[in-house]
Amino acid sequence: MRSTFFLSVAALAFSSLAGVSQSPVAPKSVQKPAQKSAPMQMLAATPPMGWNSWNFFAGRVTDQDIRNAADQLVATGMKDAGYVYVNIDDTWEGDRDTDGVLHTNSKFPDVKALADYVHSKGLKLGIYSSPGPQTCAHFAASLDHEAQDAELYASWGIDYLKYDLCSYRQAVMFVKAPDDKAAQMRMMISAYDKMNQSLKATGRPIVYSFCQYGWDAVWEWGPSAGANLWRTTGDIQPNWNSIYTILNEQAGLAKYAGPGHWNDPDMLEVGNGKLTLAENRTHFSMWAMLAAPLLAGNDLPNMTQDVRGILMNHDVIAIDQDRLGSEGTRAYSEGEHDVWIRHLSGGALAIAVINAGSDRYSTHPFHLSLAKLGLHGPLKGKDLWTGKDVTLADNMPLEIPSHDILLVRIAAPK
Ligand code: GLA
Repeated sequence: MRSTFFLSVAALAFSSLAGVSQSPVAPKSVQKPAQKSAPMQMLAATPPMGWNSWNFFAGRVTDQDIRNAADQLVATGMKDAGYVYVNIDDTWEGDRDTDGVLHTNSKFPDVKALADYVHSKGLKLGIYSSPGPQTCAHFAASLDHEAQDAELYASWGIDYLKYDLCSYRQAVMFVKAPDDKAAQMRMMISAYDKMNQSLKATGRPIVYSFCQYGWDAVWEWGPSAGANLWRTTGDIQPNWNSIYTILNEQAGLAKYAGPGHWNDPDMLEVGNGKLTLAENRTHFSMWAMLAAPLLAGNDLPNMTQDVRGILMNHDVIAIDQDRLGSEGTRAYSEGEHDVWIRHLSGGALAIAVINAGSDRYSTHPFHLSLAKLGLHGPLKGKDLWTGKDVTLADNMPLEIPSHDILLVRIAAPK
């Protein structure tokens, strides 16, 4: 089961935290922000972009790491390319005091000051909690303190909340309705809606990110429970199998995504683990085709030029951020090649061809069928990884290296 895996990841993170003191650090006074009278802009009108601490730092993340990430987003030009959210994942939490106010642990001495720092760079700050009593890494979470926590986040200037199901299952759903799956799911939905109401009550625009691994077809009910994005799967890992498996699980979900509400196939692993450049390219391209949130998860201060070049490919980012917000679909697969298309604003189109295999050569190249896409060649376009003009013809042979991708934008398809 999916849950087994992410729990073991969280447990690992927790075990690496033995040295973290959870002595409460007093927060600054909790003030309600002034209610805004002007109409709120749509939150997450395009998929959120930024960076999240989990995929690289896991439980080791500190205040300094978040500041470094913010600095790097600016220095590398990533901020200007659209990466604006700097998201603290699990393990920032301390204990609650007698009034129930949640305090940070010693790794995060002052989140308000951190938020001020991040905001001073023109960036936004995200945070993490769970509807259960504990987070996945066993830190204090929001059960029975939803409104109080939402107000605390707002008082700090938080702009984004990732809300991770975790212990809500064992501590609430499985206990209150042990033999009734449907009742468990209803509880889960109302727990997500409870935090939604609490966030709304603060008056602060806070992007709301559901993390419950896609349970109970979250894409069907997430938007009405306030989700701006929802995880569709278990945890991503920095290897091809994980990325390609998650990608295939997205087929068929396109109709649920759109401006303000997005499928989230999990944060980026670009630059992590032993992913090859081809795999990093394919991962990034396909998350753009999926209109996925682009939350980098790598070690920004030590990023290679190649990885930076992938994360900063403006043409690919433009596919992800296309204002039409129409998610790509898998048009067809043939053997180990997949063809995806995405409709873009102004009638443009993106076509992606992936070679997921390793055993196909120029002797028997893949032949792209434009007819199967409902198109007629020749089609003039731009190869978004070489930057060169290309012309796609029906049935043309394509030799794509193993785990690599051809990504073409066609301005005027016919
Ligand atoms: C779960 C989530 C991850 C991460 C960890 C933190 O496993 O799916 O993305 O937030 O919890 O403990």
